Amino acid sequence: MKINGSRLLANLHSISKFTDTPGEGVTRFSYSPQEARAREYIIKRAEAAGCDVKVDTLQNIHIGLKSNRPGRRTVMAGSHIDTVQNGGWLDGIYGVCGALEVMETLSEHIADASSSVTDEGDILNYNYQLTVFAEEEGSNFGSTMTGSKFMVGLYNEPDLDKLMDGSGRTLRDALKNLDNIPDSTECRTPLYNRSDVDLSQVRIDLDNVKSMFELHIEQGPVLAREGYQVGIVNCIFGMRVIEVTMSGVGNHAGATPMAERHDALCAAAEAILAAESLVSADPNKRAVVTAGHIECLPNQSNVIPETVKFTLEVRDNDNDSINTYMEKCIQAICEVAERRQVGCEIREHSKAAPFNLSDRIIDDMQKRADAEKLNYKVMNSGAVHDACMLAYYVDTGMIFVPSINGRSHVPEEDTDEKDLVAGAQFLMDTILDELK
Ligand code: GLV
Ligand code: MN
Ligand code: MN
Repeated sequence: MKINGSRLLANLHSISKFTDTPGEGVTRFSYSPQEARAREYIIKRAEAAGCDVKVDTLQNIHIGLKSNRPGRRTVMAGSHIDTVQNGGWLDGIYGVCGALEVMETLSEHIADASSSVTDEGDILNYNYQLTVFAEEEGSNFGSTMTGSKFMVGLYNEPDLDKLMDGSGRTLRDALKNLDNIPDSTECRTPLYNRSDVDLSQVRIDLDNVKSMFELHIEQGPVLAREGYQVGIVNCIFGMRVIEVTMSGVGNHAGATPMAERHDALCAAAEAILAAESLVSADPNKRAVVTAGHIECLPNQSNVIPETVKFTLEVRDNDNDSINTYMEKCIQAICEVAERRQVGCEIREHSKAAPFNLSDRIIDDMQKRADAEKLNYKVMNSGAVHDACMLAYYVDTGMIFVPSINGRSHVPEEDTDEKDLVAGAQFLMDTILDELK
């Protein structure tokens, strides 16, 4: 069954315009007006294809094929539509548009809602559902895969109050005030259930899910550098994130001699470099460490920095390695703080264990890729994905396409159009087999 590649690309290009930073990449945080426009776009297309659309209290979107019926297990596919600040046009939304393309193609080949047979003679024995996961990037509340964590029950009621954005607003408050989004009124489709935050409707019945698929750009250099068209993911890296606060002594930048300073930013800089050299020495050349967020107070050119807060995250495909490197980094940070006589507080922020994806699905995908003469590589994912959360409980598979120059989470993020179409066609073929 052939997908419509031009329609897939047109959808991606249209949604890329929903950004808070036009000309400077895509910035589309969850629960923002631009994200509401992207949701509306997806929902309208799904409704036009005769699909059933439900939005839960967390703003995960669940879209069912018109021929779905109760009592059948479900094959899920999906990804996220939120982005990082000044991110790219494909991260997340490619998986959503790919799964939507599968939905639209299937709908065109199914006569009506009462039919489970396509015009090409395929008998569908399972339901197909597209899920758009909310707040995957953690751009608001600092925790990745938030929507999927709530869906599988890893996050629960107390987390609604624990998860807080930079201004101190909790996730619960954000969800309660969704209807205050200034220009969401132009969205004609009701996007939000403006009731109290009710998690009972967010949890999914995992016994009822047969399998889950996520199509994604690789976000790293491997496929493009080695000339592969498709990646079949076998393991998703785990991660552990801490938040470090270093407290020095603020003072005058001109009148305080160098030997008498307790500069929190210099301490943080030294600590971060120590972490970098520790993890760079990984003999497997696999573990990675990043201090991606830093706040400096008072952040003024003529005042010695008094307080610096930064995040440090370690990722690898082995949980022991993640913990060992994180413990070494913490030790190095504490040593720097002690030597420089600055205070140091460390808070565990979040963690996710590495996930091995389903052997059955990897095997099926390899056979299919061989039959289609696709040039593929079985590989790790350095980035985390909503698929990880489902992978604990149900057979889960991920398909990667090459990222040009290995760039992602930046405006330069891009993938050749023919690779985008080939990846979505491979998703189509995979899901169709899975539905039979
Ligand atoms: C999500 O993009 C992540 O891997 O941080
Ligand atoms: Mn993503
Ligand atoms: Mn991302």
